[in-house]
Amino acid sequence: MQQRFTVLAVLVALVAAVQVGLGGDSQAIAWDNGLARTPPMGFNNWNATQCTPDFNAAMVESTADTLVSTGLAKSGYRYVNLDDCWAKSTRDDAGRLVPDPSRFPHGIKPIADYVHARGLKLGIYSSAGSTTCSAVGFPGGLGHEASDARQFADWGVDYLKYDNCNNRGVDARQRYTAMRDALAATHRPIVYSICEWGQSAPWQWASRVGNSWRTTADITDTWPSMQANFRQNVQLAGAAQPGHWNDPDLLEVGNGGMTAAEYRSQFSLWAMMAAPLLISTDLRRASNETLRVLGNSDLVAVDQDPLGRQAVQVVDTGGFNVLVKPLANGDRAVALFNETAAGSTIRTDLSAVGLPAGRYRSRDLWSGAVTEASGEIAAQVPAHSTVVYRLTAG
Ligand code: GLA
Repeated sequence: MQQRFTVLAVLVALVAAVQVGLGGDSQAIAWDNGLARTPPMGFNNWNATQCTPDFNAAMVESTADTLVSTGLAKSGYRYVNLDDCWAKSTRDDAGRLVPDPSRFPHGIKPIADYVHARGLKLGIYSSAGSTTCSAVGFPGGLGHEASDARQFADWGVDYLKYDNCNNRGVDARQRYTAMRDALAATHRPIVYSICEWGQSAPWQWASRVGNSWRTTADITDTWPSMQANFRQNVQLAGAAQPGHWNDPDLLEVGNGGMTAAEYRSQFSLWAMMAAPLLISTDLRRASNETLRVLGNSDLVAVDQDPLGRQAVQVVDTGGFNVLVKPLANGDRAVALFNETAAGSTIRTDLSAVGLPAGRYRSRDLWSGAVTEASGEIAAQVPAHSTVVYRLTAG
């Protein structure tokens, strides 16, 4: 019996390793803190403010208010995450982190209280190194894991983004595991977001350590950067599962460097890839178009689908892509993504998206138009655009 069980366990592990398709450790036995059963959603200030003086308590509080007043909080965006530069550049005499008094004069706890009072959650940032990534080099968590985690928990923090700068060559898995254990020891539920940029192939090990792991370099507000992060992340579908997500970095939607079609593509692709949806534009000044994109509840539902599968790319030819994401109720989300500079018809069919022959109701998740599909699935897709259909049997 014992032996049969072992054989079965090995088989399960092998299947998982093949699904990940990348060799290395199997992720079959994932660590589980019970959090992020669907990809985390919320806000992170980095792409909007970086370390400018605009990153401060007033900005964070009015962002929380805006999440509520625009209805985005109701749509699922609940983490309000502080990125780098929230701290003073030196620890206090007791080795504690000190919030920058010019940005957060009353500290972090009142900010946590403020967002909690609005039904939201607070996230914070540190690095698994001696200092963070900003040129100033704020204190990092390496060697301070237990006391930093305790401080975050005491402040009421609900999410930690843990970066990779100035890591002194210590093995990534070891550094990130130390903080995982320190967070667990606080007994506070804290989503653990590993920001290691894909350097040690975290999709092979990080489901045992964190709730998400960055798979790419930092995104910038440009089409080529968005494309590059998509291309890297889309290959890693086998590694995503409830509680553990590939993270192709923050949303750029609304920041002005891409066209409306390109932002709609980023949002569509991130939702298909079950990526964390972290808004990173100045929400206080967001246009109606930006709010419409971020608030597309049909695409949010695709991202947040409880089955927790990342879309698989079934077509990748000459800039034409088809992605397929199976959904918990048996529906399939199908994205037709045109990376080329000219409009074109993209075609696929039911068998290519894994559906048996039959009649399906096909709903366009941007226009709302409903058509019938019984063989071919096709759309005229403008340059740099993405059409997403949700196919329902019957
Ligand atoms: C790194 C991270 C970014 C951001 C900056 C902050 O570059 O990858 O997402 O957190 O550090 O300094």
